[in-house]
Amino acid sequence: MLETEDLTIRFGGHVAVNAVTCRFEPGTLTAIVGPNGAGKTTYFNLISGQLKASSGRVLLNGRELSSLPASARTRAGLGRAFQLTNLFPNLSVLENVRLAVQAAHRIGLNLWRIWSDQRELTQRALEILESVALLDRQGMPVAGLPHGDQRKLEVALLMALDPQVYMFDEPTAGMSHDEAPVILDLIRRLKQDRSKTILLVEHKMDVVRELADRIIVLTNGQLVADGEPAEVIASPVVQEAYLGLAPQGAFGSTDARPHPGLPPSGGRSLGDTAP
Ligand SMILES: Nc1ncnc2c1ncn2[C@@H]1O[C@H](COP(=O)(O)OP(=O)(O)O)[C@@H](O)[C@H]1O
Ligand SMILES: [Mg+2]
Repeated sequence: MLETEDLTIRFGGHVAVNAVTCRFEPGTLTAIVGPNGAGKTTYFNLISGQLKASSGRVLLNGRELSSLPASARTRAGLGRAFQLTNLFPNLSVLENVRLAVQAAHRIGLNLWRIWSDQRELTQRALEILESVALLDRQGMPVAGLPHGDQRKLEVALLMALDPQVYMFDEPTAGMSHDEAPVILDLIRRLKQDRSKTILLVEHKMDVVRELADRIIVLTNGQLVADGEPAEVIASPVVQEAYLGLAPQGAFGSTDARPHPGLPPSGGRSLGDTAP
């Protein structure tokens, strides 16, 4: 079980994540929703160790990880999508995934699997590429990938790690209509593995409604709602977020454009605090 206790970070005077206490059980998918700037990505960064908390703790299976660097948290089982800057841009898609599978094995994440030879490594890498519909790009240098394929590759590398906790931060942002379902299918399949804990930041409420076992809402760095999807979606705090916004996304993704029918600054969001 993943837990955060009073997890907090301040940037100067701004408290981006404010005393968030939450538990995430294996076998559950928790959607994290909230307006842009609510602190969702920062919360992930605090869990994965990309950012150091000002106060509070992160625990995995009772073990405190708060003082560990990101690499050690990855070894402990926290899986955050790789930054593509960590890749070898001139090596192929397949080579990169193969190296990730091999690295995961070396650091002991895949204890129950024996990648005894190169053929098996390649086989596993190909399986992963198939699951994210990147088989046809396997020979391409990573540097040349279109944006949507880069996002798929991020997910492929996360799969290669086979972590206990999967953290997806807007995994389909920037993907086309035919690319996004591939990633959502993959998350759907991951969910069937009851030993995995999945955290998903997602703006599309139809996706959240379908995939989430539970929804938590962050606003101004604070956890303001937590519960069953139907209950949280019906709550005033979430309903208010729909007002004046396009019906598709309650919160508007980071790459969303204002709804064509709305004035440029017409949308209210969960973060508005005007009385
Ligand atoms: N490294 C940083 N330095 C200063 N402020 C930051 C940093 N990272 C995030 N913030 C601020 O923290 C707040 C939360 O941002 P973020 O976690 O990206 O929100 P979300 O992912 O919910 O859209 C924002 O006000 C953002 O400007
Ligand atoms: Mg974000």
